[in-house]
Amino acid sequence: MDKQTVVVLFGGRSSEHSISSATAGGVLAAIDRERYAVIPVGITRDGAFVLEQDEPARFALDAAKMPEVVDNGTRVRWPEPDGDRMLRVAAPDGSTTDLGEVDVVLPLLHGLHGEDGAIQGFFDVLEVPYAGGGILDSAVCLDKHFTKLALSAAGIAVAPGITVRRHAWEADPENIRAEVRELGPVVFVKPATAGSSVGVSRVEDGERLDEAFRIAFAEDDKVLVETRIAGREIEVGVLAGRDGGRARASLPGEVVLTSRSFYDFEGKYLGGEGVEIVCPADVDDDLIARLQDAAVRAFEAVDGRGLARVDFFVTADGELIVNELNTMPGFTPFSMFPKCWIASGLTYSDLITELIETALCP
Ligand SMILES: Nc1ncnc2c1ncn2[C@@H]1O[C@H](COP(=O)(O)OP(=O)(O)O)[C@@H](O)[C@H]1O
Ligand SMILES: [Mg+2]
Repeated sequence: MDKQTVVVLFGGRSSEHSISSATAGGVLAAIDRERYAVIPVGITRDGAFVLEQDEPARFALDAAKMPEVVDNGTRVRWPEPDGDRMLRVAAPDGSTTDLGEVDVVLPLLHGLHGEDGAIQGFFDVLEVPYAGGGILDSAVCLDKHFTKLALSAAGIAVAPGITVRRHAWEADPENIRAEVRELGPVVFVKPATAGSSVGVSRVEDGERLDEAFRIAFAEDDKVLVETRIAGREIEVGVLAGRDGGRARASLPGEVVLTSRSFYDFEGKYLGGEGVEIVCPADVDDDLIARLQDAAVRAFEAVDGRGLARVDFFVTADGELIVNELNTMPGFTPFSMFPKCWIASGLTYSDLITELIETALCP
């Protein structure tokens, strides 16, 4: 069998640059080398495409020194739509070398430009096939306001809340404070497009509401305020179908908060105590079936492509509320999405193959 050439693309301009680089370390170590010829391409924090070394260990997750893409002076040149599919690299002296004809790009990027439809549009324009979310699902899911519109329209429950534009808050804060009081004694304030819990606050009894708005508006001009949903945080991995089939859902995993008031940045990435990822979650078969069905429906509601992690709140009486979808969820071998699929019978390496194959033979 001829090997397919896969460009593993990582790093990027977003605040999640290092997490993306750590994911690349995991993927480079596990990708099926019998099947795929791999070209690692990094995006520096300034947005330059550089040829990276194929050395997984360089990108290992290490709290002391987070992995990153450094500018080594090379520049990767993507193929033109009407030409060959040859990927080339320019050395600092300007000389170029052919790297191979690209079959598919595997973008392992989070946040700005990587997970919001921008890089997806770039590859659509270049006519380079890529794995994962497309333009529309990426853009919709990166914006929590539009995610909720799309889910609600499909009859999927979301947290009650309001969306507040900066100008509205500045023009009439008293009116907004009154609307927030209607949402209940505890609310969450969060920027529409941030991730990794950056800018998210829990506000009790209106205390520090102004402060929460200030923090959220530092990230985005659009801020959501939601009723706090009391419930378990349960997440399901979805992979696009193969051969025209329906999307597939993994077993659910759970974010268990033992001593933290919510799943904040420190708990997610800084090894903060009080958070555990439990996979598979301790839930009965009926709930598994309902979660999987709702996850696939949520994926379809946003025109999902490739993959997504669908994050739920499950209330004490078993109601399912979708909090958000991530079109490029954490993908290190220790992240929820891979763990859910591993619990469902795939290996990490199989999962990478599945993701690539859904792009090559959708
Ligand atoms: N309406 C809500 N009710 C209860 N907890 C919430 C609510 N919204 C957010 N949270 C908590 O804040 C965390 C981060 O919010 P989330 O909307 O998932 O943003 P991010 O995109 O940054 O992950 C969630 O994992 C959850 O712990
Ligand atoms: Mg989240």
